[in-house]
Amino acid sequence: MLRRSLLALSGAALLATAAPASAQGRSETYQTYCAVCHGDDGKGQTEKGKEKGARDLTNAKWQKSVDDERLEKSIANGKGKMPAFKAKLSEDEIKALVKEVRALAP
Ligand code: HEC
Repeated sequence: MLRRSLLALSGAALLATAAPASAQGRSETYQTYCAVCHGDDGKGQTEKGKEKGARDLTNAKWQKSVDDERLEKSIANGKGKMPAFKAKLSEDEIKALVKEVRALAP
């Protein structure tokens, strides 16, 4: 009896921690188009991210060194091995992503 409820408890705890950790509050747009390289956490440590050399978007020092316009342009037109997204995303969606990227820096 005790064992059973303990099992149920740890199961619930697992579920509670797994759900937000898998998405970490990222938007659907980010998860669809960006997470494959930059990861849900923005660090770029996915297989594809490492292969392409995706930037660690959580780096606060780097974030300070670039303005929003530059980030918008990079997302729209691509940069280095990052593809362009202007054909897939609207300007508003790109602006929202810039805000989301900003929120990744601690
Ligand atoms: C195919 C892998 C890939 C995908 C998908 C991808 N990126 Fe990137 N991203 C990269 C790489 C590689 C870089 C580094 C580019 C460089 O500096 O040469 C980068 C750099 C960036 C930068 C920094 C640009 C700059 O001006 O320094 C931002 C911001 C960014 N990505 C946001 C996004 C967003 C938002 C998405 C989704 C719409 C996305 N990325 C999708 C690979 C990717």
